[in-house]
Amino acid sequence: MLTLSEVKEWRSYANEVREKGRIVGLVPTMGALHEGHVALFREAKDRGDVVVATIFVNPRQFDDVGDLERYPRTLEHDRALARGGGVDCLIEPALDAMWPDYPALTPTTVSVGGLGERFEGAGRPGHFDGVASVVAKLFAITGPSRAYFGEKDFQQLAVVRQMVHDIAFDVEVVGCAIVRDHDGLAFSSRNARLSTNGRRHALALSKALALVAQRDDSASAQRALMTTTLLDAGVDVAYADVVNPETLVPSRDDETGERRALVAGLVEGVRLLDNGPVRIVGK
Ligand code: PAF
Repeated sequence: MLTLSEVKEWRSYANEVREKGRIVGLVPTMGALHEGHVALFREAKDRGDVVVATIFVNPRQFDDVGDLERYPRTLEHDRALARGGGVDCLIEPALDAMWPDYPALTPTTVSVGGLGERFEGAGRPGHFDGVASVVAKLFAITGPSRAYFGEKDFQQLAVVRQMVHDIAFDVEVVGCAIVRDHDGLAFSSRNARLSTNGRRHALALSKALALVAQRDDSASAQRALMTTTLLDAGVDVAYADVVNPETLVPSRDDETGERRALVAGLVEGVRLLDNGPVRIVGK
């Protein structure tokens, strides 16, 4: 596995891959890698791409300095997982390579209106501007490619797809299924911050989703069931909603069909997200 940090070398590497007639499979990450990331590497590998992963803890997407400071940094472990997962080239850009003006903002910000303002965008002001701005830069440096994102961050995936469509990046976005631990908890870099007891409470997220997935009911009844399940487990609920999977607009009670259930909440001060398919029946 090749490791690069300079933007110039990273750009040249991606160009050489394309000159050889291969496809660059880009997997953007913030490190603290886990099995969810490895599944993205494997998906890219299985499709025959040359796998390029980036590790960059992007300060611009954290609305809380404490959250940024507490974000796990496990570079040696990440390198080992990337190598084992079949990454061909690992990019570790320095902060000033990505954001030379930091902590001041660069004058250009990529902002995805509507989609980026709901749910995580409403709870964490500026979060999706930070995500969209850094992903746009990763895409601009890497060039034409396929880019892999996990469905665990369902809203992020929708925001990235919208941005690619609107700016016309030559990037095919591939969404990959959520990877869950043996107890059902979706893999997340933040899980490492939960105590054993906190982890038990956190299981309410996947439980709430499993409960609504088994029923046909109205959007508001599905919302109410998820909210009660989370509150009963002591989760400080940020939202529990049923939405259109493309627009993320909350479903009305007269709608019927396949939708997405989104849940988020704080457990021991750690923000956790999860989502899953749900069917609603209009009333
Ligand atoms: O999902 C993440 O790890 C980050 O939001 C991303 C896409 C790498 C952008 O910093």
